[in-house]
Amino acid sequence: MALVPKHIKNLLPYKAGKPISDVKRQLGLKNIVKLASNENPLGPSLMAINAVKEILLETHRYPDSNGYDLRTKLAKKFDLNIDNVIIGGGSEGIMSVIMRTFLSSKDEIIATKNSFIGFRVLANASGIKTNWVSMKNYYYDLESMAKKINDNTKVIYLANPDNPTGTYFNKNSFDNFMDKVPSRVIVILDEAYFEYASHIDDYPDSMHYRYDNVITLRTFSKIHGLAGFRVGYGFANNNLIGNLMKVKLPFEPSTLGQVAACASLKDEKHLISSIQINNSEKIKLEFFFKENNMKYIPSITNFLTLEFNSSNKAEKFCDNLLKKGIILRNLSSFGLPECVRVTIGLPNENKSLINCIKELDI
Ligand SMILES: Cc1ncc(COP(=O)(O)O)c(C=O)c1O
Repeated sequence: MALVPKHIKNLLPYKAGKPISDVKRQLGLKNIVKLASNENPLGPSLMAINAVKEILLETHRYPDSNGYDLRTKLAKKFDLNIDNVIIGGGSEGIMSVIMRTFLSSKDEIIATKNSFIGFRVLANASGIKTNWVSMKNYYYDLESMAKKINDNTKVIYLANPDNPTGTYFNKNSFDNFMDKVPSRVIVILDEAYFEYASHIDDYPDSMHYRYDNVITLRTFSKIHGLAGFRVGYGFANNNLIGNLMKVKLPFEPSTLGQVAACASLKDEKHLISSIQINNSEKIKLEFFFKENNMKYIPSITNFLTLEFNSSNKAEKFCDNLLKKGIILRNLSSFGLPECVRVTIGLPNENKSLINCIKELDI
């Protein structure tokens, strides 16, 4: 018997955006602008940082394995009970718990090609048969996904808004889709960017729905600026959450993560300024791209994805900007080699990006 199963041997691992320290070391550059991982360029709320400082001397203790404070605060904020809430090591950590809890060998998954790479890696690593559905012009094709449902389908993964395209499916499409999903099928509704999208009228914020087979996933990694703390959360009916809680690693997230997240929830000002700066900077970047005939996908998130005529052009664009200290995300590992994702940064970071692009021959 082979030591390593075939699906692990063939697994393409998650390739994250380049860390700033790597680029500094490799290129000998001092100033780096990282616009590669959809992080909040404003950083974390100071309330979160102060709360973490206060708890540092308590970190010889294990975290609260029940996550009582954070789960209670999330339940209150979204008008639910604590039994409807799970927290974990990033929303990806919770995705992994969902896979381990509900899938067994004969089950099947339905997911979208070229959507969030983290889910693709988890699905491929699970060894579970996954039916990959193509996007339609960078949008989720829910009709085709529904047609793939069969007797073995157990989990469907949807990212709304999507990463890396920044597009979304609307209420109408979601309602039509859910009409076709049997109640024995679990839908993971990944809303990592919902705060950026929630002002849009026809965005189907899942908290306005009560489906017993939908698990909503959200995160403190994006607008809350706490990606390094690894805290995600999920909402679902108490039966699903109860089973997830049995399987989840008991001490995730860390004490620091839980404390930071609790404090961050109180900082409404930080949330509002993060949305405002994102919206105003997005307009500036869109304007520049339009002026320079650079094709981008309309996005309701904190990033914009550029589409080039060829993968060669996209790769060159990224490489040349990297040499100037700007880290963007080439999307070849997402299966979109002709695309490059740009996270919207602070005004001075976006200005540097624009100035560097002006120096390129594209
Ligand atoms: C759609 C989507 N879901 C989930 C995640 C992962 O979030 P977390 O840091 O909470 O694991 C990301 C991160 O890029 C994402 O884009």
